[in-house]
Amino acid sequence: MQFLSDSLARVKPSPSIAITTLAGELRAAGRDVIGLSAGEPDFDTPDNIKEAAIRAIQAGKTKYTAPDGIAELKQAVCDKFARDNGLDYTPAQVSVGTGGKQILYNALMATLNPGDEVVIPAPYWVSYPDMVRLAGGTPVCVESSLETGFKITADQLEAAITPSTKWFIFNSPSNPTGAGYHPEELKALTDVLLRHPHVWVMTDDMYEHLVFDDFTFSTPAQIEPKLYDRTLTCNGVSKAYAMTGWRIGYAAGPKPLIDAMRKIQSQSTSNPCTISQWAAVEALNGTQDYILPNTAVFRRRRDLVISMLSQIEGVACPVPDGAFYVYPSIAGLIGRTSAGGVAITDDEAFAKALLEEADVAVVHGAAYGLSPNFRISYAAADETLTEACRRIQVFCAALR
Ligand SMILES: Cc1ncc(COP(=O)(O)O)c(C=O)c1O
Repeated sequence: MQFLSDSLARVKPSPSIAITTLAGELRAAGRDVIGLSAGEPDFDTPDNIKEAAIRAIQAGKTKYTAPDGIAELKQAVCDKFARDNGLDYTPAQVSVGTGGKQILYNALMATLNPGDEVVIPAPYWVSYPDMVRLAGGTPVCVESSLETGFKITADQLEAAITPSTKWFIFNSPSNPTGAGYHPEELKALTDVLLRHPHVWVMTDDMYEHLVFDDFTFSTPAQIEPKLYDRTLTCNGVSKAYAMTGWRIGYAAGPKPLIDAMRKIQSQSTSNPCTISQWAAVEALNGTQDYILPNTAVFRRRRDLVISMLSQIEGVACPVPDGAFYVYPSIAGLIGRTSAGGVAITDDEAFAKALLEEADVAVVHGAAYGLSPNFRISYAAADETLTEACRRIQVFCAALR
């Protein structure tokens, strides 16, 4: 009898975590590695949020809670959706989990059966296809392109939907590209979904607040209220409030789905950390004043990275609308050889050689389902980014 499960064989470990770990090991061995692979803000969690957590500990709020969240946090989530997105939810329609990751996972585990398909635009956040596979479903990836700004078209969505499609996963602004769908672009997609009433929408709005220039964030149930009854609107505090380690994510949607997600969570992790839940209440209800200044810092860093990368011959780098990632194409470098003698046959070879020869850790595009590209997370100090881009410039200039 085989010990490990078949479902485990269907998934691979997260490549961004693998590269971040490798960069850490090289650093521990004395190498001056710059890591641009981790998907988390480099800001500290704001003081008012930390203080709320300390108050919770001191008040003895350290016990189990309801499996999918305290009433105060569910209410704060409802208020957030009403305030920011014009969406009307009751606390019974809200689920709070250990990060947005668990929320998405619960929803897929609660709904997928063998044969069910999930449409995922590529490039995608690395976890979507693996979570779908783990839950027994089949990911159907739809490739966008540099030319369309890494966004899929309505025709592509239409063509990907079959009678077996259960979910469409939507993520804007996107990890790994930072591409955001403008309201009219999202409307074109929701119009397609209206024609297919069996398809549900899982929207991952994690980067909602990190948007630049004139980009206006919108979410499917807001753009098309007729989709409200089949949309799970997912979000979290990790990125907007620099709370990645606190592990709080949330979603709102139809009550039967929320009840099913609670059942999964109650038999796996139970409630998310009680103290973190109280901190998240403060994050959502307290001052939002630091979000705009943080976003301005990210925009400055985006511009810095874009301007340095666009000077490299063979690299094409579209300007992202949000998040803290850029996803340059290296189509113009494929087929060359590095100074260290490595043939750049694909983006994985590029990322490996860049780490080995230039001490810069980035994630190769194949991990996100669209090649040849690489992802830079620019959640790092300006000097670090400048030095990293300088090293990338030198590495690329030495390609033969
Ligand atoms: C697109 C996207 N969704 C969800 C998550 C999960 O975030 P968390 O589990 O920290 O809430 C991430 C984190 O990198 C992400 O980039």
